[in-house]
Amino acid sequence: MSDERLAIEGGKPATRIGPVPTKMGAEELLELVGMWKMSPKAEAEIRRIVGAEPSIEGPHLFRYYNPRPSRVMEAEELMRKAIGTKHCLAVNSCTSALVAAYRALGIGAGDEVIVPAYTFFASAATVCAANAVPVIVDVDDSLNLDPAKAEAAITRRTKAIAPVHMRGAPAEMDALLDLSKRKGIPLVEDVAQACGGSFRGRKLGSIGAVGCFSFDFYKIAASGEGGFVTTDDEWLHTRAQSWHDTAACWRPERFARERREGELFCGENYRMSELEGAVAVAQIRKLDRMIAGHRRANARIRAGVGSPAGLTWRLQTDPAGDTGSNLVFYLANADRARRAIEAMKAEGVPAGGIYDAKVRDWHVYTYWDHVMEKKPVAADGLPWSAIPAAEQPRYAKDMCPRTLELLSRAVIMDVDWRWTDGDCDSIAAGIAKVLRLLGSS
Ligand SMILES: Cc1ncc(COP(=O)(O)O)c(C=O)c1O
Repeated sequence: MSDERLAIEGGKPATRIGPVPTKMGAEELLELVGMWKMSPKAEAEIRRIVGAEPSIEGPHLFRYYNPRPSRVMEAEELMRKAIGTKHCLAVNSCTSALVAAYRALGIGAGDEVIVPAYTFFASAATVCAANAVPVIVDVDDSLNLDPAKAEAAITRRTKAIAPVHMRGAPAEMDALLDLSKRKGIPLVEDVAQACGGSFRGRKLGSIGAVGCFSFDFYKIAASGEGGFVTTDDEWLHTRAQSWHDTAACWRPERFARERREGELFCGENYRMSELEGAVAVAQIRKLDRMIAGHRRANARIRAGVGSPAGLTWRLQTDPAGDTGSNLVFYLANADRARRAIEAMKAEGVPAGGIYDAKVRDWHVYTYWDHVMEKKPVAADGLPWSAIPAAEQPRYAKDMCPRTLELLSRAVIMDVDWRWTDGDCDSIAAGIAKVLRLLGSS
């Protein structure tokens, strides 16, 4: 008679698996090493050491259920402290951060959000992605949302005002915050281009109801792709996190019933990966150093250029809070700006223009065909169809004349925080030379 018994009755288990090798091993690590440029000797040495390590065990590239401390969570905590809010959520882009913010605020079909006429197109697209409609408003001499014009654009449908701290400089947050409080309309700060900046002592992204950051490769702090949502409001944080990962539903208990109406709904997947999280950690740790470098280089170039006749520096709402990542000034008119930019480039100055009526650019509202022509994504006609035609915002190429006038005569330059004093002096000399010799016509 066989004494075979089930394992649950004391028998010998029939199945034995593994151990299986780790999912991420030396190959994946060496792919990453190959992305960094270094001396052939250093690379060969790293490859030799990694190759000689038989049990090398790669990371768990997923923020949840991670047996090791999550780098995404570490990035969130560092960013939360850097910005000074109670909560911070990592996402995979600022586009995602903005949609999550609008959804967290309960914005949807039939609603309007005020956005500036000069910003990256994502500012308008994300409003539409949340099924709402963007209302496009002129910028002022700071190249940021004009608070008075924003107030004039408010309707009964306005559910958020979304100032963008363009080109590293804070919008006029005192006036916008006052407007927000008077009207009971939340501010969604788009800090994609101004991470690390502040306004009168408060970090950008901590002033409005929600702050949205980009860590795409071209931003001040970058992780290739990535973004963050910052807020002091626990409920907004919970809802943003639910939208950002519809499958996870951490609130904080993943499988718990809804604690309060509005906590559970169908969202998307905007999760940041652990690889981006690790890079973001390194970048946030050096954010102060990068901002200090931007400010130093910016101030040195400005001092070297001075205030020659015909040049007007961009209005700064708070010079001390500007990130310094961009240098912007206006010349008398578009033609002069165009000629000065050509001449500066020939001198070796990395300057550029912002608006040319003949050059398409997603940063200027006139080129946002998808919005200007009210293009829906599907046959339902959303987001436009949710608002009666007579009540929809008017879009026309000439509707924000101040924006176009300012942009057409603006000269702009990205400032690199690693520039030496010598680099800065030579850039200042190039700008000054052009403005001195270009002629007054
Ligand atoms: C002002 C502004 N908002 C939003 C975005 C979108 O950021 P991301 O590329 O991370 O989606 C950008 C990116 O260029 C931006 O400049």
